[in-house]
Amino acid sequence: MACSTRTMVVACLVLLVAGSSLGAAGLPAGGSSAEDRVEELLARMTLDEKIGQMTLFTSTWAQTGPVMDAGYLDHIRSGKCGAVFNALTASYTRYLQTIAVRETRLGIPLLFGYDVIHGHRTIFPIPLAESCSWDLAAIERAARIAAIEAAAEGLHWTFAPMVDIARDPRWGRISEGAGEDTWLGCRIAEARVKGFQGDDLSRPDTIAACAKHFAAYGGAQAGRDYHTVDVSDRTLEEVYLPPFQACVRAGVRTFMTAFNEIAGIPCTGHRGLLTSLLRGRWAFTGLVVTDYTSINELVPHGFAADLAEAGQKAVLAGVDMDMQGGVFMNHLRRQVESGDVPLARIDEAVRSILRLKADLGLFDDPFRYCDEAREKRVVFCARHQAEARAIARKSMVLLKNDGATLPFPPGLRSLAVIGPLAEAQVDLLGNWHGAGDGGKVVSILQAVRERVGPGCEVRYAKGCEVDGKGRSGFRAALEAARGADAVLLVLGERETMSGEAASRTDLDLPGVQNDLAEAVARLGRPTAAVLLNGRPLTLTRLDAAVPAILEAWFPGSLGGRAIVDLVFGDAAPGGRLTVTFPRSVGQIPLYYNMKNTGRPVVGEEKYTSRYLDCPNTPLYPFGHGLTYTTFAYDSLHVDPPAIDAGKPVTVTVNVRNTGKRTGEEVVQCYLRDVAASVTRPVRELKGFRRIRLEPGESRPVEFLLGPGDLAFLREDGTWGTEPGEFKVFVGGSSATTLEGSFTLR
Ligand code: BGC
Repeated sequence: MACSTRTMVVACLVLLVAGSSLGAAGLPAGGSSAEDRVEELLARMTLDEKIGQMTLFTSTWAQTGPVMDAGYLDHIRSGKCGAVFNALTASYTRYLQTIAVRETRLGIPLLFGYDVIHGHRTIFPIPLAESCSWDLAAIERAARIAAIEAAAEGLHWTFAPMVDIARDPRWGRISEGAGEDTWLGCRIAEARVKGFQGDDLSRPDTIAACAKHFAAYGGAQAGRDYHTVDVSDRTLEEVYLPPFQACVRAGVRTFMTAFNEIAGIPCTGHRGLLTSLLRGRWAFTGLVVTDYTSINELVPHGFAADLAEAGQKAVLAGVDMDMQGGVFMNHLRRQVESGDVPLARIDEAVRSILRLKADLGLFDDPFRYCDEAREKRVVFCARHQAEARAIARKSMVLLKNDGATLPFPPGLRSLAVIGPLAEAQVDLLGNWHGAGDGGKVVSILQAVRERVGPGCEVRYAKGCEVDGKGRSGFRAALEAARGADAVLLVLGERETMSGEAASRTDLDLPGVQNDLAEAVARLGRPTAAVLLNGRPLTLTRLDAAVPAILEAWFPGSLGGRAIVDLVFGDAAPGGRLTVTFPRSVGQIPLYYNMKNTGRPVVGEEKYTSRYLDCPNTPLYPFGHGLTYTTFAYDSLHVDPPAIDAGKPVTVTVNVRNTGKRTGEEVVQCYLRDVAASVTRPVRELKGFRRIRLEPGESRPVEFLLGPGDLAFLREDGTWGTEPGEFKVFVGGSSATTLEGSFTLR
């Protein structure tokens, strides 16, 4: 049945021209509303065609690009598959779309999905890194660019944003989220949804977003991926669910169910979550897709005896589309015929799928996203690369910088570049780098060489591998470092060491990298470490060894150049941590907004909530991050000192640049409800401002805290405020000691 793409394109154009008053699916194009068109189509569909729409299959990869399994191709032809993922490029999606539109009875266009997580071909920093920019406009722009590139390659739908709050860095997927804080997570979720979807989904450069993984996937016990989640209803409501609700409010078009169970009910079969909460309380009207084979996994979960029961439970719980499991395809027809699954539920699911296709404009022109000319023009274009470089610089967090080791001074005559990741290319992209091409990435070593020019001798030695025990490279590394004007260590994880199915129990730098860093640092040269990694690491040894550490995360396509921009002071690091860095794995879970306990630590007192062998405090707290200047805070005012319920309070602080360079500070405002009907966290982020100050410049910064900021889930199960004292903390991290207070009458 091989047929060249060109033949398909011509055939399809003929079809479209011939039936010019008809859109795809043979429906009248103009006049009738999307809703009417969906209903008309639904009325003409057989049960098998409906189930086909509820089925999503993947394409696989060959050397030359994506290919469709012959069996799946047959399914597309026979109308048994309504959506495809991992198929991309304008010409390949055009080829598959032509089959769907020309060869199926109703000509319903396919929906093309893909994991466009942090960029499409131009790769941005991993989502955790991007969140550290605390720059919502930049985060939105990054998602916008990802959508522009993906849409030009035929894609309609991204499986992003991942909005799972994660408090356990053992969990590799912490790299895909926005960190540990729910409030910030909500703001970032909204920015990403807006970036992907824009204001108008029918524009050919916007794509549908997908809030995933619903829900509480980040709560996996012991940080082991896919593991059981058992959290209280309060933690679910207050910590894990709000970013999903923020996505609904931002108009997200799709949701993905999580692999995990919550307190005994796997999310893919969780009626309470998918129907009562999502469609009921939150009034979500979009499409719910499963995660990859997560219906099938209801069997090993012990929630269904066989696949038929698994499918039935999933569809009745509210799932509309089966990702890759083929369960709906194989079992749903019989269940509808026997009355075990009401046809009305099937119609509801199909309606949500067709509505999305209609809103994407696919019934008007199924090929509007397959545009080779646009693809050539926008993909990995210079403007997108410049944006990627800018946000990479903002995402990197300067964890320590004793003696102003960074930036390296001008005029270095020699620089040793040491470490297993100095020449890395694909690792700079990080996990889930979509269609990003490691071959196009400039390594840190190459970027250094280009930056310093011929006047500076760059001495490179790998030193060791990322993991493993080999030390045979130490000698060359020490030789390179000895006598060098400065040393840049490039350490961390390979990109595959975080992300899905990449949990770790040991969060130190892998292998012998700490030993290498210690040996090099002992030479006493000005030494800075740059880290590539996808999660907080326990950096206690490195912190003790080297004077400067720049957390670069996995910074994306332009990451090598962005790192070099910062290391040589062409730009200043702008990131602040959105996740706590523990001293030791034994402290996990460790997050800034914990409860106080009845026995908080007081000095050295024994019978308090503490460890014998480690302080309670993190190595680097949430919100922390240095730059090449310093800031001082004073004059904190809370006005008025007492408010009535429903009224706002204004918090003002003065921030001054006390250093010698222009710099950006992220001014953070935290709140504590001192006593309430349920205990409240010791601090909760309620606002932030990113400001830029010239040396010596000072500026007042204001936060308005409204009733919503003071509200919580009260003992009686309602959201609201309670009278009493509130403390306010403002500063450059969650550990700030500058505090004020007010009373709610
Ligand atoms: C992941 C999802 C992803 C899906 C499709 C799954 O394994 O959990 O996040 O969207 O695969 O690639």
